Amino acid sequence: MSQRFSLHFSHLPLVQRVLYTSTLCVLGLGYAFAMIYIFASHHGRDGNPMLTVKDIAIAYSGTKSGTKLESALKGPMSGMLPADENLKIINWVQAGASEKEYQDDVKEIFDNRCITCHNNRNPHLPSLESHKGVMQTAEEDRGVDMFSLVRVSHIHLFGLTFIFFIVAGIFIHAYIRQEWLKIAIIITPFISIIIDVASWYITKIFEPFAWVVIGSGSLMGLSFGLMFFISIYQMWFYKLPDDVQMRFYCAVIDE
Ligand code: HEC
Repeated sequence: MSQRFSLHFSHLPLVQRVLYTSTLCVLGLGYAFAMIYIFASHHGRDGNPMLTVKDIAIAYSGTKSGTKLESALKGPMSGMLPADENLKIINWVQAGASEKEYQDDVKEIFDNRCITCHNNRNPHLPSLESHKGVMQTAEEDRGVDMFSLVRVSHIHLFGLTFIFFIVAGIFIHAYIRQEWLKIAIIITPFISIIIDVASWYITKIFEPFAWVVIGSGSLMGLSFGLMFFISIYQMWFYKLPDDVQMRFYCAVIDE
């Protein structure tokens, strides 16, 4: 048989397995934080505190009915102020966001709760120091803007490719009886990254694609998880079946 073998983990020196394990552990931690970040930045936009498909659709394509200010107040900014003040702002927006009522009632809330971060000195966040600034967030919510999508796209495409190249490069040393399965696990995240990024743009114009965002993200997570756990397990707790061990030595001798 002329099939070529990658070395199995059990043939690698201890120091290499330690390096692989350390790398995997830190990447796994990074993955966990990425999941927490996704939850924190998207959940609750639709009013339901869990992360839903609707939340993803709103994040990319906007609420259509509500404003950016409302979706932020229901979602990521909801922890910045007590519920009664939150409701007061939302009622004010829905009643037409008049300037008089702003001066009388709600400016105080923005001043107390928001402008430590949302002020004129911070160019990255909309300023909520004036009625004009607040009104810019109280316009119709069209979701994340094109420029941010392009920025996040290139970060994801570069960043995730590195991560999966490293993880797959380690997983290569695992033994999976069906080679096609191993190949499938390795290429899935690369295909998913492309589908994922493309589906952000499509979700902007066609909301049901939020399902594809979630599906491709889950596939990526699934293959990361498989490569992670199979690698760690086979590195430290697994003994190659005898027939495979045998084939491996025969192949080495053949060369
Ligand atoms: C501790 C700092 C901080 C405070 C206080 C804060 N925010 Fe934010 N806010 C942020 C950050 C950071 C973001 C961007 C995060 C993101 O996009 O997920 C943000 C995003 C927003 C956005 C969305 C902006 C956009 O362009 O999509 C709105 C609207 C908003 N905040 C409103 C508020 C309101 C109203 C308050 C007060 C009740 C408030 N924020 C208090 C830090 C803060």
